[in-house]
Amino acid sequence: MSGAPQISASILNADFSRLGEEVRRASDGGVDSIHIDVMDGHFVDNLTLGPVVVESIRAASDLPFHAHLMIANPLAYAERFADAGSNLIVFHVEADDPADEVIAAIESAGKRPGIALNPETPAEAVHAWLDRVDLLLVMTVHPGWGGQSFIADVLPKMRALRDEIARRELAVEIGVDGGVNLGSIGPARAAGGNVLVTGSALYGTAGDLASTVAGLRDAAARGAAAGTAGRT
Ligand code: DX5
Ligand code: ZN
Repeated sequence: MSGAPQISASILNADFSRLGEEVRRASDGGVDSIHIDVMDGHFVDNLTLGPVVVESIRAASDLPFHAHLMIANPLAYAERFADAGSNLIVFHVEADDPADEVIAAIESAGKRPGIALNPETPAEAVHAWLDRVDLLLVMTVHPGWGGQSFIADVLPKMRALRDEIARRELAVEIGVDGGVNLGSIGPARAAGGNVLVTGSALYGTAGDLASTVAGLRDAAARGAAAGTAGRT
């Protein structure tokens, strides 16, 4: 459970008619990064946004942009999301392209690589890449939509990945994505999550987001304390 918990704002649930302002709202509210959900209608049954949108909101904040590519062919798009201003690019281990080639493409574009796995995908599927990426994104919903419920059945797998990372003394961070809110952020943190992606729990609040972010941080910290105490 390395480092202080980071809150990452998933803009999928933001008001797309004024996306730049919504990025600024999260940034001013004190989040640590902006999470951008990219869907291609193939890997998941939804279509969201392309590099041109990332480029258009880049000036809205200096925070790191994490592009979460839920697409079948990340190799074809990694460089374009890099050029658009993403700082960390996450692709799925279940995608069609070979993971080592996607990681190499992200690195040669000068960006940080991350790998994600779906709820039903076993931990072993990413073991080979844990020493090659900066972020391991553990999906706690089936990707495709914001506002879904947190799948607590994923927590044992997250703990196993946390222990595998610790056993190998790797620096990769664990991200948790999907259904993270005041109730689930504590257990997610206790199971090893430290980059905590929140969409509807954040953008469901109108106006200033500072107290919402502070509330999520507190709940995460309590989860960490419980985790350390109970070593869940
Ligand atoms: C789902 C996305 C998530 C989602 C998070 O496929 O990857 O990032 O937008 O939103 P909430 O927090 O509402 O589940
Ligand atoms: Zn996401």
